[in-house]
Amino acid sequence: MSHPSLVLGIETSCDETAASVVRDGTEILASVVSSQTHSQHGGVVPEVASRAHLEQLLPVIDETLREAKCRPQNLDAIAATTGPGLVGALLVGASAGKALSLAWDLPFVAVNHLHGHIYAAFLEEPDVAMPLVALLVSGGHTMLVEMRDHGDYKLLGQTRDDAAGEAFDKVARLLGLGYPGGPEIDRLATEGNPEAVRFPRPMLADGYDFSFSGLKTAVANHLKKHPNTSTQDVAASFQAAAVDVLVTKAVRAAQNTSTGSLVLAGGVAANSELRRRFAEAADDIGIAHFLPSRSMCTDNAAMIAAAGWQQLRIQGASPLNTAVDPSWGFAA
Ligand code: KG4
Ligand code: ZN
Repeated sequence: MSHPSLVLGIETSCDETAASVVRDGTEILASVVSSQTHSQHGGVVPEVASRAHLEQLLPVIDETLREAKCRPQNLDAIAATTGPGLVGALLVGASAGKALSLAWDLPFVAVNHLHGHIYAAFLEEPDVAMPLVALLVSGGHTMLVEMRDHGDYKLLGQTRDDAAGEAFDKVARLLGLGYPGGPEIDRLATEGNPEAVRFPRPMLADGYDFSFSGLKTAVANHLKKHPNTSTQDVAASFQAAAVDVLVTKAVRAAQNTSTGSLVLAGGVAANSELRRRFAEAADDIGIAHFLPSRSMCTDNAAMIAAAGWQQLRIQGASPLNTAVDPSWGFAA
């Protein structure tokens, strides 16, 4: 059999319904992301998300194939996220992927969403040097991962409570901003003073694990005591504290492992201050770094197709009875 080339990726783990066609794990022919609006609820409501995926997924796949100028018979495989994520949301994408793989007689690949986030880097820079250290920061996860080769990951550390994105979203809520809060805080922080309030830097000196719930509580306490602090100053000061911790630990991991490059991944990797500080810190220690473009940091299906293409080469197809796993961790 010739090497698989064109992979249809499907992503429905949270509130983005996405499909993409990617050639050889790197060339995006089409990537369609339909974002649901959960802002009126201040967060994602699982049942609402599953229903919206059901309504949107087939139109999104149709649009993707049309944009890619690709017919089902041109595809070589289908890759769908099967975890981690919301169980009902995952089921919609995984079931559609399996059904289409049966109908179109194509191999099915069950992809880990977290692997997908790291593959966002390979989509734009296929030659990222390995071993690499990835700082994966999203709404559900905050992790430092050493990737020694394709399919060979080691979890170095992770959050003990809230994820970084969750902290941005919760602080945004305290400030009366909409959901998701990360982009709003990012924007407001540019108008604020990051030194206006000295928020704590939790676990800064210890290892590779993170903790963000204390930082969020510190913001809540500050707002109770000083309700008149400007929203911009609180946003900038909170962001400075969160970014300080994330960058310090990523640098520590890079220096203590024989890493060739530092990679930023996940929705929070779209944050301007994190991108700036991460790049600056990598330059300071003389390690190559890679920041995927913003649209590839937040959930999309191109990253799932790219991860699925590599997985197919290394491990082959997944059985059609592969179950979704809402709490699938990093290791295979
Ligand atoms: O990776 P992602 O799209 O979904 C998950 O897998 O969780 O990440 C979503 C998270 C949300 O918490 C959102 O607030 C955060 O990424 N985010 C940001 C920015 N853009 C998205 N956080 C800080 N600054 C941003 N510019
Ligand atoms: Zn994600």
